[in-house]
Amino acid sequence: MELDNRPTSSLLHARLPEVAGNLPFHRLGAAPTPVRPLPGLTIGAAPVWLKDESGYGDGGWGGNKVRKLEWLLPEAIRTGRRTLLTVGGIGTNWGLAVALYGRDLGLRTVLALIDQPVDEHVRAQLARLRASGAEIHRTHTKLRTILTAPLLYAKHWRPGAAPYYLPAGGSAPLGVLGYVEAGLEIAAQVRAGDLPEPSHVVTAIGSGGTAAGLILGLRLAGLRTRVFGVVVNDTLRLDAPALLGLVDRTTALLRERGARFDAPAIAADHLELTRDWLGPGYGHPIPAAAAAAATAHDDEGLDLEPVYTAKALAALLARNADGGFGAGPVLFLNTNGPR
Ligand SMILES: Cc1ncc(COP(=O)(O)O)c(C=O)c1O
Repeated sequence: MELDNRPTSSLLHARLPEVAGNLPFHRLGAAPTPVRPLPGLTIGAAPVWLKDESGYGDGGWGGNKVRKLEWLLPEAIRTGRRTLLTVGGIGTNWGLAVALYGRDLGLRTVLALIDQPVDEHVRAQLARLRASGAEIHRTHTKLRTILTAPLLYAKHWRPGAAPYYLPAGGSAPLGVLGYVEAGLEIAAQVRAGDLPEPSHVVTAIGSGGTAAGLILGLRLAGLRTRVFGVVVNDTLRLDAPALLGLVDRTTALLRERGARFDAPAIAADHLELTRDWLGPGYGHPIPAAAAAAATAHDDEGLDLEPVYTAKALAALLARNADGGFGAGPVLFLNTNGPR
């Protein structure tokens, strides 16, 4: 189980070189991910831009999970793990990315999966999960998952090689570093003139790591950009204190690993949240999201999925139509990563 000799440096290492030896990084995709204007989705005062994470990752599955794994997998290897244990819905993008990228490094993945509304997308995803070689346990409810996870941990425990437990969506502080890196990448693209400085970045919030990382990374890079988070999951606590707490824990991790920096002051108004696009709950389709996905496909050739990105785009379109982003520009993060 060895990491190959791909570039191991990151923008975060360049910004905080003192952590490089203590925080291994393994690049899994081609950075920076592309940015472009979306005139077909600019219906309102703020010009809409895209940062397209969908092609990130050279394994079987892309999107926002890969950036989290760039920090989590090297830690698993560094600490001698053989097994990755994680949880998610039966359509989990996260679980599939863990299984595929972990497999590439010789790591076994064990998944405890909660029920979610089943549609074509979820059915196909469950088939991919089964084909990935992961050991799958259908735990159905959140409570049964909480009770089962320690049993699975014990089952796969080996002397010197305890399973590496990764929380839902990889939103542990180490995984959050993936989107600190993306925040630094956005700043580099602004400085290079590839993108105007966004007033807001819009992302779906499923477990919070993407938003938390962006908040920290954008501040660390000195941008004024705020994060507009569209909460699509009601099975986890995803309010502002929880997300800002995750930012604080990520800052604490960087300090533990040797970072000597004045942590950027994070104010509550660096994050705006909406829960208006959740619908009846996690994974439940809503008509506005289906309409947004159809517009994105027809007008900009973008393929969004119904659980996260279509809801995030629906929120963006409605808020821009109401003038809520002012003059913008607003950056839509396409976190969907099918192959
Ligand atoms: C396609 C997609 N977009 C967005 C998200 C949300 O990211 P996060 O879990 O970091 O909040 C997820 C996963 O939860 C996802 O699979």
